[in-house]
Amino acid sequence: MQHDDLLKKAQERELLAGEVVEHEERKALLLEAADIYITLSKVCAAGLAQTYVQRAKECYVASQQQPKKSYRPLIVEEKKLSFDDVAGLEQVKEKIRLKIIEPFRHPDLYAYYGKKVGGGILMYGPPGCGKTLIAEAAAHEAGCSFFVANVSNLTSKYVGETEKNISSLFAQAREAAPSIIFFDELEALGSERSTAQEYARTAVSQLLVEINGLGNRDQRILLIGATNEPWNVDIALRRAGRFGDPLFVPPPDFKTRYKLVKQYLTLKPVAGDVNGIAIAIETEGYSGADLVELCDNAIEIALRDSLASKKPRQVTMDDFIAVLSGKRAATVNWFRMALQELKKDDTLFGEIMQHSRRLVAI
Ligand SMILES: Nc1ncnc2c1ncn2[C@@H]1O[C@H](COP(=O)(O)OP(=O)(O)OP(=O)(O)O)[C@@H](O)[C@H]1O
Ligand SMILES: [Mg+2]
Repeated sequence: MQHDDLLKKAQERELLAGEVVEHEERKALLLEAADIYITLSKVCAAGLAQTYVQRAKECYVASQQQPKKSYRPLIVEEKKLSFDDVAGLEQVKEKIRLKIIEPFRHPDLYAYYGKKVGGGILMYGPPGCGKTLIAEAAAHEAGCSFFVANVSNLTSKYVGETEKNISSLFAQAREAAPSIIFFDELEALGSERSTAQEYARTAVSQLLVEINGLGNRDQRILLIGATNEPWNVDIALRRAGRFGDPLFVPPPDFKTRYKLVKQYLTLKPVAGDVNGIAIAIETEGYSGADLVELCDNAIEIALRDSLASKKPRQVTMDDFIAVLSGKRAATVNWFRMALQELKKDDTLFGEIMQHSRRLVAI
């Protein structure tokens, strides 16, 4: 084939590769282009050989690139969630405000006082008490990009994949900075690096590399971790400057339970006898998610009756009492488990101890 035809063919392959989405197809096209450039380097005028070899190399390197994973960056502007949607948890909100929101809003002021922006917060506590909710609200309040990294999706059994996923996530967060990266279920990374599975070990190491890199370059990226099992989070990740500053997200207290139930029942057909205070008293140890479920179940009783009788009726206090009698405070079990774990090391999470003394007695 003539030189010009070959060149045209190679260029066509490259153009096509830029358009196809399917990874394997793209790879094949680029490898074919690389081959043609090598042939060209042999048949072309002497001065051009080097250029074609270089093109072939570039095509080859491009063909070996892994497809980029996309990590659901939530466009914060589209989300309406704010701290007002999170009932109670005032201390948690205040800490997050100082550590995350204000630095993003007033970077100059923080620089003036020589306060470093960056680092992280590790939220821990029983399930369903608002960790994920508060992280999303924080991102909205800060008005920055928000990346949700679900740890079990980041890790992979395939050699090298985990590191690639993590570094690609940080690269995306850097590009979109200021950003928050939210690591949900952080305990899924494994604990003791020496005993964890290979992929978990590489994940922790890669994460440490990325986090240490952040400190050096001040890239305005903050990390929020969330876990139900703080004792299973690698100790190196818990250190200050990484996911330091452990922040306990407790089960809702009396006032918060009252607010949550009230908030949830707004605009629902509720009878006048439904007593929010009585419900809040009866639900010590319930998580926020439990309270939502409690209200839903009570509503369902009224709905079922209405379907049967073909006459809609309001949700009554009796419906709530019926649901409450069959339900146990779910966080109590979590505190029991936590106490067992903390027997091994009770220095780290003092707040669990404080809460559990009262709750485990329920
Ligand atoms: N303080 C709260 N204010 C308002 N809603 C809450 C609150 N706490 C919990 N909820 C309700 O419970 C649901 C579950 O909360 P969320 O997913 O944030 O819990 P979590 O602590 O992340 O749980 P897990 O540890 O299981 O991931 C929320 O979607 C919300 O409906
Ligand atoms: Mg969660």
